[in-house]
Amino acid sequence: MNFAALRREPRTTPAHEEHRRAEASAVLSSVSARAAIALHGTPLLLLDPERVRRRYRQLRAALPFVGFHYAVKALAHDAVLDALGQAGCGFDVATGEELALLTRRGVDPSRVIHTHPIKKPAEIADALAAGVRTFVVDNDTEIDKFRGAPADTRLLVRLAYRSPHAKSDLSTKFGVGPFEAAHLVERALAAGVTVAGFSYHVGSQLDDPARFAAAAADTLALMDLLERRLNIQFDTLDIGGGFPASYDEATASIDDVAAALRPVLEPHARRLDIIAEPGRVMVADAMTLVTSVVGLAERDDGRWYYLDDGLYGSYSNVLTEDVHPLVFAERDLVGTEPAGHRWATLAGPTCDSSDVIAREVLLPELRVGDLLISPTMGAYTTVTATRFNGRPFTPVAVVGRAPVTGDMPLPSEVRRVPVG
Ligand SMILES: Cc1ncc(COP(=O)(O)O)c(C=O)c1O
Repeated sequence: MNFAALRREPRTTPAHEEHRRAEASAVLSSVSARAAIALHGTPLLLLDPERVRRRYRQLRAALPFVGFHYAVKALAHDAVLDALGQAGCGFDVATGEELALLTRRGVDPSRVIHTHPIKKPAEIADALAAGVRTFVVDNDTEIDKFRGAPADTRLLVRLAYRSPHAKSDLSTKFGVGPFEAAHLVERALAAGVTVAGFSYHVGSQLDDPARFAAAAADTLALMDLLERRLNIQFDTLDIGGGFPASYDEATASIDDVAAALRPVLEPHARRLDIIAEPGRVMVADAMTLVTSVVGLAERDDGRWYYLDDGLYGSYSNVLTEDVHPLVFAERDLVGTEPAGHRWATLAGPTCDSSDVIAREVLLPELRVGDLLISPTMGAYTTVTATRFNGRPFTPVAVVGRAPVTGDMPLPSEVRRVPVG
């Protein structure tokens, strides 16, 4: 066994491990990845925009009546925004800064929805001036901020669905229950602001297709009830994000989640604009982290390897999201190493004792300079990384079919893109 899972009790199956191993091996052996590593050294993130396009196509095929708006917060990289923008995808932003990233890339703001339930008045004014018209609210104060907004402004009331099985239950900070939702719709009506419908987020990294379906069904029932009670017509249902990615274990696929959602949503697709805001599932697979061993030590609990990226950098997803990307040693991927593996602890480069990426990882004997590869490092990695200890952000190299551009001569197929 020549893989390593970032858990004491690895949950990965041999088939999933083999799949990710083959993927990591293919990425590492590509000419563009090798050129990028030679150019930048490590740590380095390798981003393949073609994988993002592929995920978008999969989502479209699985739920053809849904309008997808990529949640920019997951990975706000120009190459991702360009790939999705050119493919016709819409965008979901949480801040004016994310909106600015999009407008700089030439995205028409009419394709952008702003889904943060709490916004500075100036941010709302700027977004409206730019041309964004769909916003999310979940309280009276926020509704009042939209008094006097252009007549075509459309609010979505954010509902809260508890999601204890998701990695991030997003219902604890935002969203309201059905009674409050009814009140908010009435309040908006009184304020002369249009409520187009409802939004919710089932929780991020939710490996439970039935929960997606239940949230959609409950929301549709609420919409029906309020339409009859208030004699109004909603036209939009925003089913949020939450589609899981397969880190150290296989999770429900896009098709699994779509199969649960389709019978609930499809009957309403003609009368409602059904939209979604997936982030993680669009980009998780698209980025691969390459680190190298900086030091090693024999401690009471065995071998420790110190890497040049960690929890305060690209592995921030382990810290903030409790996800566990696999880690492969290059020595295993190229297959030249004889069996001898041992359990080891993988630590990040900062001086903080909590900067431990994984414990009990099965690895071959490694030396300083050896490479380690983590797939599934696209979502909530660079965007949540810090500069703790003065360390720079890990650069991102666009590899694969991306065109060669840049401010210096670069090896073929590699585009030098600074982290945004
Ligand atoms: C409002 C909103 N929309 C979309 C997303 C993206 O969710 P995910 O990455 O789980 O698809 C998030 C994630 O936090 C969110 O808060």
